[in-house]
Amino acid sequence: MSRVELGDSIELIKTVETESVHLILSDIPYGINFDEWDVIHQNTNSALLGKSPAQEKSSLFKSRGKPLNGWSEADKNISKEYYEWCSKWAGDWLRVLKPGASCFVFAGRRMAHRCICALEDAGFIFKDMISWEKDAAAYRAQRVSCVFERRGDEENAEKWTGWKIGNLRPLFEPILWFMKPYPIGGTLTDNILNFELGGFNEASLKESETLNTGLEVCSNVLKVKTEKSDRGLHPTQKAVSLMEILIKLVTKEKQTVLDPFCGCGTTLVAAKNLNREYIGFEMNPEYYKNILKRL
Ligand SMILES: C[S@@+](CC[C@H](N)C(=O)[O-])C[C@H]1O[C@@H](n2cnc3c(N)ncnc32)[C@H](O)[C@@H]1O
Repeated sequence: MSRVELGDSIELIKTVETESVHLILSDIPYGINFDEWDVIHQNTNSALLGKSPAQEKSSLFKSRGKPLNGWSEADKNISKEYYEWCSKWAGDWLRVLKPGASCFVFAGRRMAHRCICALEDAGFIFKDMISWEKDAAAYRAQRVSCVFERRGDEENAEKWTGWKIGNLRPLFEPILWFMKPYPIGGTLTDNILNFELGGFNEASLKESETLNTGLEVCSNVLKVKTEKSDRGLHPTQKAVSLMEILIKLVTKEKQTVLDPFCGCGTTLVAAKNLNREYIGFEMNPEYYKNILKRL
């Protein structure tokens, strides 16, 4: 039976029956301090937990967070704490999945490695990494010459023209693809017979690609646009059509999709559209209200 609950996913996952879920599809917090709910670490001199005078003064620091900078041991621990946080729920994720089931995790580029290690250490097979190629992304790199101009240093402003500080335009997001191992002694084909899980639906991917781009590439690069209707309910809202592609890739109708960090419920909406059962958890009451409205 489909359900969506308000509360802490790490507790609520314990209410999910063992080996009852056919797919976990989740856009988890990335631990890069994108928003309050994305602060996983205890470092009080960093990003949104910041107490430094510069952070107190500048609203810009607060709204976008401070990048990991490695100035102190506490900074360096941020990614280890992220691994520990993922380890808190990874074992339960493995438990609730049926053998041969997939698990797709949207994880930030900077912390994905820690999430991969946590899920591998819990017993998952790390199967592949899919790239979601977006049509647009916020680009915040700063021109070095501008900084020198502000300092009145014309010589260096000229010398560093064309150089920037920051990252390249982030036009892809990694989607980590894990699988729960199938039982020892059998084959993957046996698993498909026993649990209806373990393969992927190439035909459905071809169909989606033909609709989206007119091409049938069937690769691990998914080009999916974000529509107007995919914006405005959550700061990291995903495209419904992207979630539908992933759900159709590894599940059949009536099977159950779980999203333990479901934001405004995009995974659940996609699952419902495709006649799948869904289970979702979200701790923020405002986002939870939006999920109920959308469903
Ligand atoms: C990256 S967002 C998901 C956004 C989603 N893809 C969408 O389209 O709306 C992650 C969500 O996890 C929620 N969250 C973080 N920690 C949680 C926890 N321990 N239990 C339940 N929800 C949590 C946050 O409030 C946030 O809405």
